[in-house]
Amino acid sequence: PVPVIIDTDPGVDDIVALLLALASPEIEILAIIVSFGNTDLESSFLNVLKAYQAVGDHLERYPDHAARFPNFFASIKTILARGRGQPLAGQIMDAQYFHGRDGLGDISERHPELGPANHTSGHPRVQTAQESGSDVCLSLMNSHLPLSITYIVLGPLTNFAVLVRKDRDLVASRVGRVVCMGGALDVPGNTSPVAEFNFFADPFAVKEILCPAGEPPFPLERFLLVPLDITTSHALPFPVYKERVDDAFAGVSVPSVSSMKSPLIHFTSSFLKRTRDVMLRFGKDAMELHDIVAVWCAISHLPSSEVLASGWVAERRIFDIERTGELTRGMLVVDRREGESADTLGTNRAEVKPIPTRVEVESLEQALSVG
Ligand code: BDR
Ligand code: CA
Repeated sequence: PVPVIIDTDPGVDDIVALLLALASPEIEILAIIVSFGNTDLESSFLNVLKAYQAVGDHLERYPDHAARFPNFFASIKTILARGRGQPLAGQIMDAQYFHGRDGLGDISERHPELGPANHTSGHPRVQTAQESGSDVCLSLMNSHLPLSITYIVLGPLTNFAVLVRKDRDLVASRVGRVVCMGGALDVPGNTSPVAEFNFFADPFAVKEILCPAGEPPFPLERFLLVPLDITTSHALPFPVYKERVDDAFAGVSVPSVSSMKSPLIHFTSSFLKRTRDVMLRFGKDAMELHDIVAVWCAISHLPSSEVLASGWVAERRIFDIERTGELTRGMLVVDRREGESADTLGTNRAEVKPIPTRVEVESLEQALSVG
């Protein structure tokens, strides 16, 4: 399995992406580093513990499902650490309007057993670190082979920028690949008319990593960007999710079906219920799989620049980012000119790879359909 570090701000889709990661034998999760983003740092941290608890409770009830979560029982425990609680510069912005105050659809308020009080003491399957996320990453990198680690970013690029500031040579020598969900190239934004949330949350970090004035601190040919252009079109229809959950309990005759529900399904359904309500207000009865698509790219080992056998290609794009625009914070200014003029904005580029819809939906269902 490929050793990965998951940098995340859970967040509804982050948690589903984490479930997919826990269910994927192709990877080994060395560490989960949380950041501010969809909600505050501490809630992000607790949400990871809540996911572990839900998987653990599920496996206690259904021990024969253990093989479905190979990364939950990894022999070396995943480390959970806190990254930075604010952007490199500028105001903190969150996405609680979408993800809820606790980052998970306010489940803490509706289901006290899923609230913070039950998770402050950690979880036996993760090792919670007192050191900063960047220190944890650096020591993991020191003990790994060159280019062996895949670093997956599901939130703002802040933690990765901090890491690179601390030791860019070590990061460049050990991280073979960064897969990062963020940005909107040729589609409208989801946080403002022009900006995607993760890049909006810390455009300064994006500037430093992807669009610096000089040489990029991390080799961009090893950086795979998974922007809204790709992720928005990958959606899990809520009726499909519901059907799978209902199927899992078909024929179960007990006084209350909900009391028989797997703790994991209770957890996911509790936050997805509110996500569905919010999405319906936007006129869509489906969950957009932003972070799930990024994890899927990482576990599928998509090469970063070659043409794939199936015909999908990674494109190189040249862009810069707005950091402080009056209306345009986090907007990617894409240079669509051809030839030499394209260099006038610098050498900034990202690799973008269209990928098929069906696969993610199936993987997600597999991750969720464990009742
Ligand atoms: C990204 O923003 C967050 O709200 C999601 O978790 C995802 O990482 C999508 O724009
Ligand atoms: Ca996220």
